[in-house]
Amino acid sequence: MNNLQIFLDIATEAALSAGAVLQGYLGKVEDKTLEKRPGDLVTAADKASETVVLETLRRHFPEHAILAEESGKLGNQNQEYLWAIDPLDGTTNFAHQYPLFSVSIGLLINNVPQVGVIYDPSRNELFCAAQGLGTTCNRRPISVSQTAELNKSLLVTGFAYDRRETDDNNYTEFCHLTHLTQGVRRGGSAALDLAHVACGRLDGYWERGLSPWDITAGVIILREAGGKVTAYDGSDFKMDSGRILATNGYIHESLSQELGKAHDVWKVEKKG
Ligand code: IPD
Ligand code: CA
Ligand code: CA
Repeated sequence: MNNLQIFLDIATEAALSAGAVLQGYLGKVEDKTLEKRPGDLVTAADKASETVVLETLRRHFPEHAILAEESGKLGNQNQEYLWAIDPLDGTTNFAHQYPLFSVSIGLLINNVPQVGVIYDPSRNELFCAAQGLGTTCNRRPISVSQTAELNKSLLVTGFAYDRRETDDNNYTEFCHLTHLTQGVRRGGSAALDLAHVACGRLDGYWERGLSPWDITAGVIILREAGGKVTAYDGSDFKMDSGRILATNGYIHESLSQELGKAHDVWKVEKKG
């Protein structure tokens, strides 16, 4: 069997087990919720889910490095295989029992996202992809939408936890694009935002302030579904920048241009 398929199968096993753990904690974490900083929550569920993912991956791939949201860097981060894990993407939603959260497990091979699994336990939806193997949702192939005009598109974005501390908080971009499209959603799980662009429910997504565990799986899931992932200005996507523009491909250029215009508006407002 192809190595990527083996990685995908084990990541799937880990994501499904972790999703079951999350469901067990749903509605039971209120008094155990900590705030890492204003608005940035961590619950017992985040930790229990991560434990299950780490146990599964380490049992099968003890030599691989890991970057996990709650445990940080494990192993040599410069080696060929690096797993980026968000055991609960959408913690705020989860803590409020708003059913939009996921487990996200991605594998970077030589810094390139090549395997991704995102599991949404509320809808029992499993998104899987590996380089060259396509993307599936619940084992059926999926692909991006064909919406080609911004005014016919439905977008999604997010606001990073430093939004209270920086002017670069995405509010200008959000308002600008809300006027130009059929709507801009704020899902609350970056991984699911990308998965929903991959299956055509949404046409595009952008966000700043992201970490590799938020988007590694989603990047390969979207690319293999026919979508496009770049920096805001259309140049090559750089994981370290924390910024992503991800679309069905057809609206990519126009969305990139409008993000540029919004940024100019923001610069003028900042001076004034
Ligand atoms: C957050 C979610 C949210 C995004 C934030 C992320 P968390 O992850 O993905 O949609 O807007 O930037 O940090 O904290 O729920 O794992
Ligand atoms: Ca996250
Ligand atoms: Ca998380």
